[in-house]
Formats: sequence, C-alpha cells, structure tokens
Amino acid sequence: MIVLFGESTRFFDTTLRDGEQTPGVCLTPAEKLEIATYLAEVGVHVIEAGSAAASVGERESIRAIADAGLAAECCTYVRALAGDIDLAADAGADSVHLVVPVSDLHIATKLRKTREQVCEMAWSAVEYAKSRGLIVELSGEDASRADQAFLAEVFREGVERGADRLCFCDTVGLLTPERAAAIIPPLLFAPLSIHCHDDLGFGLATTVAALRAGATCAHVTVNGLGERAGNTSLEELVMALEVLYGKKTGIRTEELYHLSTRVARLTGVPLATNKPIVGEMAFTHESGIHAHGVMRDASTYEPLQPERVGRKRRIVLGKHSGSAAVEAALREMGYAPDAAQLAEIVARIKQVGDTGMRITDADIMAIADTVMELE
Ligand code: KIV
Ligand code: ZN
Repeated sequence: MIVLFGESTRFFDTTLRDGEQTPGVCLTPAEKLEIATYLAEVGVHVIEAGSAAASVGERESIRAIADAGLAAECCTYVRALAGDIDLAADAGADSVHLVVPVSDLHIATKLRKTREQVCEMAWSAVEYAKSRGLIVELSGEDASRADQAFLAEVFREGVERGADRLCFCDTVGLLTPERAAAIIPPLLFAPLSIHCHDDLGFGLATTVAALRAGATCAHVTVNGLGERAGNTSLEELVMALEVLYGKKTGIRTEELYHLSTRVARLTGVPLATNKPIVGEMAFTHESGIHAHGVMRDASTYEPLQPERVGRKRRIVLGKHSGSAAVEAALREMGYAPDAAQLAEIVARIKQVGDTGMRITDADIMAIADTVMELE
C-alpha cells in the first residue's frame, strides 16, 4: 500500500471551541486553562481556545491561555469581520481561524450574500488580520458542499493576500474518504488543515484520507466532542496513525487517557463505555476465549497495548468467563483453589451471570469463601 503522508502531521485541537459547542457544554476560563495546559503537555500544536467575539469570559480564557507560556499556538475563531479580529488580537491570540462560508447554500441562506461579496469579505479580513500581526488560517465552512472551483479561488487569492494556512471544513460530515482523496490535492496553495464532523461516522476515516492526500494538519477534539455528533477525536486519530500507518505523531500517547477522563469530567459529557481507546470497555475482556487469549499473548485480542495510552487491561468475570480467567482473578485476590474448587466457583459465577447480574469483586470473594469453606 502506498501511503502519501507528509513528513509530520500537525494537530489543531478545537476542544475548547467546536468541542464547547457540544450542546450543554460550558467551560469557565479556569477550566479552559486547565484543559489547554494538558493539551500542550500532550503535544498538540495549535489550541483553538474559543471565540473572541462570543463573550467576556471567552476573551478572558484566550488571554489566560495566551499568557500561560504553553508550548502550543493559541488560536481563536473569528468571522471575516474587523471587530472580531480586533478582539482576537487584543486578547493576545497568536493566530486566527478565520472562517467564511463557501457553499452556495450557506452563502445565500445563512449570509444572504453573493459569492463576490464573500470573497471580498474573506480577502480583506485576511489582510486586516495580517496587519494586526496574527497568523491566519483561512477556513472554508461547508467546503464539502461548495463548488470546488470557487473554493479554490477563495483559497488561492486568500494565500496571495497573506493567509498562512488554509482549512477545509466538512461541516456536516458528508465527505467520504474517496472524495477527500480527489478534492484535497488541487487545494494545496498553502499548508492545509482538514476539519471533519462525524455525523455519519466517517470523521476519522475522512481525516486520514485527507492527510494521505496532502493535508498537513488535522482538526480534532478530545473525546470527539463537537457540534451534533462531534468532530474527529484526537485520541482515535493519533492511535490510528501510529498503529495502522506506523507514523510517529510526537503526541505523548501515554497521557491520552488522563486527558480524556479529565475533559469528560470538566465538560460533563461521559464517555461511551465502548468508545475506542478511552471507553471503559476498550481494554476489558470477559469471554473465556478472549480472556484466556490475552493472558497468553495480549495481541490475540488487543490491537495495541493499553499502557501505550495510559491504561491497564481489565479482565471481568461473568457468565462468559472460563476457568483460566477466574483462577487468575482469584490468585490476585489471594485465593488458591484446587481444581474441584475452581470448577465449582466457575459454575457459580456462571449461575449469577445467567440471572443478568453484573458480578463484582465482592461477589467473587463471597463465592470463593463459601466454596472453599465447604470443601
Ligand atoms: O464545522 C465547521 O464548519 C466549523 C467552522 C465554523 C470552522 O466548525
Ligand atoms: Zn466544526
């Protein structure tokens, strides 16, 4: 397989902007600073700290993150308006994520403007942001539904007017990996970011396809937070690139689980138990065949070692458990059953499992005590 990734992929984390747009999520400046600090420690390159025009609290957050001396660029979302750009510059941001709608649907319905008016707004905003000393990432909203020739014109002239980077937004998650492979290469007038949403579950695959096609930066959020079904998740993308494509991302992967659980706590959005990489079940095994397999060689039923993302393997007992897993659990709890005792304990655990109950460590100890006393 030919893999066309560039030298190094950059990670632009938008947990604090698109992620905070998850309905119901609202972070204080102190919480944003805490998350930004973790993000920088983990190794993301750009932190989109919020939207300077949105509120006083947002500007406080941006200022706090910009002043914290983190090893990451502090970026803020702006519309193509001088007022937004002034607020971003005054809050101390290093860069602006300057967003203009580029599909006719958005241009006509949302903005009630023409393509020409949008071009003029975008290009003069780029020039203005440059005059305020900001790094500019010019972003096409709803780019996957735009006329691609028009998008190319917006981007090409945007770079001529001073944009440092570009961003292709798949705003409602309609881009496929195949289309990304075809439409990204003609847009590479400057380093290009890919910003995918997960409405149809394609966010990660499409992001990878866009990176393989020449995009150099991925927009991501911790836990895949974001509008509606969310954005491409940081932890899934990093591990997909490392495990499936053998890329060294430079991200401190062993910190990913801590970051994820902290963000879940601060945002109040719990992790789905079966979420890849960070969900409770991602490295948990119950069935006898699987548990026995991983106890002999973890790679039988695990694509990566849990320690690589700061986690531990868990074997839980239930009606699918076999005697090897039960014996290992009992030994950890200090029991040394003989063969007959072990067989009886396994049988009783299966009986409890058959009632539909979840089996706790306390249940296992109670069963072991009873069986081993009876013998
Ligand atoms: O998904 C999107 O189009 C966005 C833009 C506003 C940047 O988040
Ligand atoms: Zn978005």
